[in-house]
Amino acid sequence: MSEKSFYLTTPIYYVNDAPHIGHAYTTVAGDLLTRWHRQRGESVWYLTGTDEHGQKVMRSAESNGASPQDWCDRLVENAWKPVWRDLEIANDDFIRTTEPRHMERVQRFMQDLMEKGFIYEGKYEGPYCVGCEEFKLPGDLDDGKCKIHSKSVEMISEINWFFKLSDFVAPLLKHYEENPSACEPESARNEVVAFLEGGVSHLSISRSTFDWGIPVPWDRKQVIYVWFDALLNYATAVGLTDSPESEGGKFFSRTWPADVHLVGKDILRFHAVIWPAMLMAAGLPIPRKVFAHGWLLVGGEKMSKSKLTGISPADITSHFGVDAFRYYFMRAIPFGNDGSFSWEDMSARYTSELANDFGNLASRLLAMLNKYCDGKIPEKNEAGKLTKSLARTVAVSDEAICALDFQTGINAIMDFCKEVNGYVTANEPWVVAKDPSRKGELDAILYNTAESLRALAVLLFPVMPISTKKLWNYLGAENSLGSIEKQVISQVSTWGQLRPGTKTSKGEILFPRLEEAEK
Ligand code: ME8
Ligand code: MG
Repeated sequence: MSEKSFYLTTPIYYVNDAPHIGHAYTTVAGDLLTRWHRQRGESVWYLTGTDEHGQKVMRSAESNGASPQDWCDRLVENAWKPVWRDLEIANDDFIRTTEPRHMERVQRFMQDLMEKGFIYEGKYEGPYCVGCEEFKLPGDLDDGKCKIHSKSVEMISEINWFFKLSDFVAPLLKHYEENPSACEPESARNEVVAFLEGGVSHLSISRSTFDWGIPVPWDRKQVIYVWFDALLNYATAVGLTDSPESEGGKFFSRTWPADVHLVGKDILRFHAVIWPAMLMAAGLPIPRKVFAHGWLLVGGEKMSKSKLTGISPADITSHFGVDAFRYYFMRAIPFGNDGSFSWEDMSARYTSELANDFGNLASRLLAMLNKYCDGKIPEKNEAGKLTKSLARTVAVSDEAICALDFQTGINAIMDFCKEVNGYVTANEPWVVAKDPSRKGELDAILYNTAESLRALAVLLFPVMPISTKKLWNYLGAENSLGSIEKQVISQVSTWGQLRPGTKTSKGEILFPRLEEAEK
């Protein structure tokens, strides 16, 4: 097991409140991408977690009459983890920044940077937004308010420890010039490059006016700045600072550097400027890619916990189901762009793409197998042009999804689904079935349709794990081919995998008609 894992992270979210669909958006995207890579047969590590220190979380605990630790424990156990479970998120680890495994490694890392000469004592004076937990520049403000949170910033003046961030401007610019794919989409890279070119000052990495944080190892009156603490989660969770021979050290060398840090564009600079600079200072490899996706908007503004505009995932999944939720956001909004959730748009896509195109194809086939083939997979026959289309579908979707273009990837798969529907309609198996001398023809049509659905189940599994698994069972594929998780993308288009004679079942409708009244 020395193969480097495909290592993907989400931001670790603030536990100032329960998750809304913006957090679910990132986490579902990460889940889709990591499931896809697992399906390619790769070793994968998927990390998510929570960011628990700092004033933002401390104040929300206070205003709810709880200690910060109790508040975090409660929210993590009762809100964050259950939501990810409900959404079928298959993360391999969940890190909390209040865990000793994180805090100890953060302190060791900081001590190391101190010894390497990248940290010094200085005075910070200037505006700070607690919503962003960020030291602000004049250009970040609109009439004295943070542009993201539309709230007044606080002026702070403290003696703090500083990280020599400016030392890394030139190496970072060189890095992004030489590795354009290290920051995507292009608009995000341009923003980062412009920011670096505009000049960057050294960064305060400690705070002295409150104590909810990790103590600075050599100055216990100060706590480590929450972003310095939080960014390190990506590396502490996989064994940063452990000796190379230890289990943690070996794990670190199998995972680090991260392949993709998935973030929203609100926190791009932290990830594409501060984080790689911290790693460069420590002499560690920097992440291969930071991908900044767009925002889900409400009334034209970023949906947010702070502004109380968050829609909870359950508000949507209780009506449409978890699979449709996952499908909708990945399919409807080009990844990288902003988008709005619309009940009407989601209903329309549910009905036309999931219920009619995909679900109905499955129901039609399973009913016909039941009626004409004794509920069994019929004999194989000439496959025809569906095999070519499928091979192309796999190639296009694999390339697009690996490039985080989920919309193109899903569209390619759904186009194939439409083509198979067209194939069934054009070949009219219900007419062919009336003539016993055309049994071979009937078998061929139904076998090819079943094979197409086998492929669709595997390709859509990373997007919609619940319904595709059901379909897999209805097709009897679990018995003849093993679990759906074991199916490899590169083998999907190999035709003729379903074994004739395997028992199938009619099953239940995958995407039932929506009850308009429930709205
Ligand atoms: O920033 N649209 O945590 P956070 C799309 N703790 N994505 C959204 C969104 C929206 N309207 N709202 C939130 C923090 N997100 C820090 C991160 S990482 C070392 C520390 C998603 O709770 C998106 O991924 O404010 C965004 O970047 C993240 O949640 C911010 O979550
Ligand atoms: Mg935020």
